Order: sequence, then C-alpha cells, then structure tokens
Amino acid sequence: MHAIEARSLWFKYGDEWVIRGVNWVVEPSRSVGLMGRSGSGKTTLLRILAGARRPSRGSALIMGTDPRKARGILAYVPQNPSHSFYMPTALEEVMESLIGVKGLSKQDAAAAAMNILNAFGLGEYAGENPFNLSWGEQRRLSLAVVAAYGPRVILLDEPSTGLSYRDKEWVAALLNGLDSTMVIATHDVDFLLLMDVDEVIELDDGVIKPLNCGELVSKSEVYMVLRAAELPEPARCGLVTSWGDAPRRP
Ligand SMILES: Nc1ncnc2c1ncn2[C@@H]1O[C@H](COP(=O)(O)OP(=O)(O)OP(=O)(O)O)[C@@H](O)[C@H]1O
Ligand SMILES: [Mg+2]
Repeated sequence: MHAIEARSLWFKYGDEWVIRGVNWVVEPSRSVGLMGRSGSGKTTLLRILAGARRPSRGSALIMGTDPRKARGILAYVPQNPSHSFYMPTALEEVMESLIGVKGLSKQDAAAAAMNILNAFGLGEYAGENPFNLSWGEQRRLSLAVVAAYGPRVILLDEPSTGLSYRDKEWVAALLNGLDSTMVIATHDVDFLLLMDVDEVIELDDGVIKPLNCGELVSKSEVYMVLRAAELPEPARCGLVTSWGDAPRRP
C-alpha cells in the first residue's frame, strides 16, 4: 500500500486551476522535499492530502484511505505553528494528542508528554502557554505534538521558516529521527540538505517534476559561502551523495 497516492488530481479556486493533473505516489517511510515557486500550489496540495480541501477531480489517498478518515495516521503541520495550538499549556497540548489519538489515561499522558517535551528541549516550558513561546520553540512544540502519537504520514508546510541555522539542525534531527512518511514543502535548500530526504520534487505548472540535485545544491546559501571562502565542501549532506553537475569552484 502506498503511503500517499494522488491520481489525476486537479484542483481550482474559482476558475483558477492550481493543481493540473498530479499523479504521484510516496512509499511508506520515505521523505520527500516539495519545492516550487511561491504560489505554485504546495500548500494547496498538502491541504488536499490532509483532507482539508476536496479535489476538484481525481483522488488523493493516505495509506489507502480517504484523508478525512485518516485521523491518527495523518498529521498536517501548518506553516505557522501556533495555528495548531488550542490548549492552555505546552504540556496539555502534547497530552491532548496522546489522549485523543492514542487513548492514554490522563496520568499516563502527562508522564509521556513530559518525556516528549524533554526530548524536544521544551521541558522547562511544560506549564507555559504555547503562545508565549518563541517562534522556534513553538515550531518544536508543534513537532512534539505530532511526534507524540507517531502518525504514519506527516505533511509539513515550510517547517524551517524563521529558524536560525542551529535551530534548523535541531528540527531536522528531530524529524530525521521519526519513521513516518514525510512531505516537506519548503523554499529552504539548506534545510533540505540537513534532512534525510529520499528525493526532492518540484510543483510547476500544476504538476510534479523531479528536481535536479546538482541544481538544488548550487542554490544552497551555506554551500555558496563554503565555496566562496574556499573551505572544504562536506562530502555528504542529506540527499547529496555526489556533486553531480553542480557548478564547481574553478
Ligand atoms: N483560498 C484561496 N482562494 C483563492 N485562491 C487561493 C486560495 N488559496 C490559495 N490561492 C491561490 O492559489 C495559488 C497557490 O497557492 P498556495 O498557497 O498553494 O501556493 P504555495 O506554493 O504554497 O505558495 P508559497 O510558496 O508562497 O507558500 C496561488 O496563486 C494563491 O493565490
Ligand atoms: Mg505555501
């Protein structure tokens, strides 16, 4: 069974077609980077896969199921982490997913949630209102909520926006430690290079196209700095196992 399966998927807002015949499968436990210019439809595609929008034509399935019936096996993490918070404290935010999805008792959920907050470096904020956390802390909390119940498929919309490089390393390491199928919609090449993604694709003209890894690396800000300073290039970074046809320093 495919983790994600989109067949002849079309979607329009009003008269404007944004998704124009996406045929795409992702196998279980694979991670895919989803790039594409602003307005190309990445968020729209993720929201269709998350069941928040119905396809205009064609179908989208998560683990063979209608996304609207995939509660517990599917998570959508919006670009703005606070959009998913609704509990008074960080601890309760994590507990809620353990109680609601995994069916834990309140006492067990509190203990498990505390462990997860500690693992995500948020133990000291357990009693804090999620909206009082910094942007990067909110980002980690939104991932802790998801990691708590371990959905089979996680759809992440721009998970590195507003994070420092160090925080991106943190977030990438946390995500790389999960066994879920992941789609990461992003403009951030350097974040993708930190992620153990299996492939990177591009949404262009409403359809999915493969993205050339050499081209991708050549756009990395970190790698440009390394090259400009004539510092050694890392031998392997995320998906990049060879420099392929990336432009080289003379
Ligand atoms: N609710 C809506 N009603 C009408 N048009 C919309 C709506 N949401 C998005 N659009 C349009 O659909 C297109 C795709 O938007 P979408 O947000 O999916 O792009 P994106 O690839 O995620 O962009 P970005 O990289 O800026 O996040 C854009 O032209 C946008 O203006
Ligand atoms: Mg978007």
